[in-house]
Amino acid sequence: MVVFAGPLTPGQVSFLLGFIPVITAWIYSEFLDYRKYSSSSSIPPPPPPTKSHSDTNLLELGNNGTLKGDDDDRPLLLEGGGALSKSPSAAKIQNASVQLNLIRFITMDESFLLENRALLRAMSEFGATLVYFYICDRTNIFSQSKKSYSRDLFLFLYILLIIASALTSLKKHHDKSAFSGKSILYLNRHQTEEWKGWMQVLFLMYHYFAASEIYNAIRVFIAAYVWMTGFGNFSYYYIRKDFSLARFAQMMWRLNFFVAFCCIVLNNDFMLYYICPMHTLFTLMVYGALGIFSKYNEIGSVMAVKIICCFLVVIAIWEVPGVFDLLWSPLTFLLGFKDADPSKADYPLLHEWHFRSGLDRYIWIIGMIYAYYHPSVERWLEKLEESETKRRWSIKTSIVAVSLVVGYLWYEYIYKLDKITYNKYHPYTSWIPITVYICLRNFTHQLRSFSLTLFAWLGKITLETYISQIHIWLRSNVPNGQPKWLLSFIPDYPLLNFLLVTALYLFISYRVFDLTNTLKIAFVPGKDNKRLLHNFIAGAALSLCLYCIALVLVSVPRILA
Ligand SMILES: *[C@@H]1O[C@H](CO)[C@@H](O)[C@H](O)[C@H]1NC(C)=O
Ligand SMILES: *[C@@H]1O[C@H](CO)[C@@H](O)[C@H](O)[C@H]1NC(C)=O
Repeated sequence: MVVFAGPLTPGQVSFLLGFIPVITAWIYSEFLDYRKYSSSSSIPPPPPPTKSHSDTNLLELGNNGTLKGDDDDRPLLLEGGGALSKSPSAAKIQNASVQLNLIRFITMDESFLLENRALLRAMSEFGATLVYFYICDRTNIFSQSKKSYSRDLFLFLYILLIIASALTSLKKHHDKSAFSGKSILYLNRHQTEEWKGWMQVLFLMYHYFAASEIYNAIRVFIAAYVWMTGFGNFSYYYIRKDFSLARFAQMMWRLNFFVAFCCIVLNNDFMLYYICPMHTLFTLMVYGALGIFSKYNEIGSVMAVKIICCFLVVIAIWEVPGVFDLLWSPLTFLLGFKDADPSKADYPLLHEWHFRSGLDRYIWIIGMIYAYYHPSVERWLEKLEESETKRRWSIKTSIVAVSLVVGYLWYEYIYKLDKITYNKYHPYTSWIPITVYICLRNFTHQLRSFSLTLFAWLGKITLETYISQIHIWLRSNVPNGQPKWLLSFIPDYPLLNFLLVTALYLFISYRVFDLTNTLKIAFVPGKDNKRLLHNFIAGAALSLCLYCIALVLVSVPRILA
């Protein structure tokens, strides 16, 4: 017998209220499309009416993966349960027509459905993914098994993956820097993505096998992600100077769209996925630091003052007792967390947020500083490459020697501490291993220009693999539960099960990554603030309506009972 984890919440009911019409509309649109072509089967299919541009656009986009560009002046629009679209030329009509499109959706207007088939399909797939999440995590349809750790197996799998990836996906890059036109010498995109991949694999395996002995290393990896948030976002805003609302909305969408739906469908607190609020916060801080008085960013002393201000803000919030609670308590509804584990039930609601955000409170600023000096270091490296061999080698060797010694000392005196003591030192020392890694990774030209594409690919979908692991790889079983169990499709065959569940999990994570992008292009227009606002209001209104209806539906049985 199928057992569900409890009565549906209003959030879950409103999700279903949105999802069912969308998936119905999509199936119907596929049917219409099929009929359109089969009825004219003897004649060649008619050219698509001009109106259906958006449909084909989206399809093409989905297929050749060009979704990731910034230039998405693309069609389409609206949020929540409904959908509408328009070819770019019809953009004017579009603005006035959020309501109209909604009406066309509700009345199942045939041409409307045909136009938006691709979007409806993306929305349905996204919804179906969430249903799968619920089934895996909250029902007993699939079984679960216990975690077990063997250092031997853990290392074996990791090294096997490295070898496989080196044999199949080692690639050489010739990237040009955006600002100097020269090759990027260190920390290019491939490298940062590959770096994320290295860490993500260990991070995930740490959860899967409950490898508690590498707890401290995991803290360093998370610090490195936050470092990259500071580094990447600083470089972006400093060079592109794009502080537009649209860009901002797209970034927030990227970070929080998927996790928001997971919270609703699985009835979890936002803080269960602590990486998301943490990166959102630090992204906002970088945005604020560069966006305020952005005209003066070029002036060195202004930048120095800004960086010092960042430090002062962090010190004020996290080091001065009382300030943290005062500042965040109004946001407790969003950032509070009540662990399902009874032994942790009487922590203050903001404890988790304080702990997680506090661990990495400084490292994003370090990332900003590294990004600021990135061009100078690059110039210096270039000069070094041109200098005579002996001098070059002596400088390089000393850099490597110093890195190794510092790395060793850190390992010996900081890393080896027990986890509670280590966490105390972590905020002040996490920059050490990060810097050492950067120095060593750029040790030689060869090292720098190669990267493992497989790891880089994994690095691209870290956010999705991070969120999905809790539900479709591991299992948490209850709202706000830590993922203590493994999802088991093939009981009694732990390794085969690992293989199958992992393959499915990675595939779905990748799909979610793609869908987040597709839906972003549809609902968060790149350069049209008015439409963005329209979509936002329509989405909010629609969600509110669905929620109210759901609230009534949920309370009816209770009143009757
Ligand atoms: C800013 O940081 C977020 C969070 O890590 C990341 O997803 C995003 O790609 C970064 N933006 C840029 C432009 O690097
Ligand atoms: C740094 O990068 C250059 C540029 O390609 C490379 O040839 C050189 O060996 C590297 N130097 C160090 C110290 O790693």
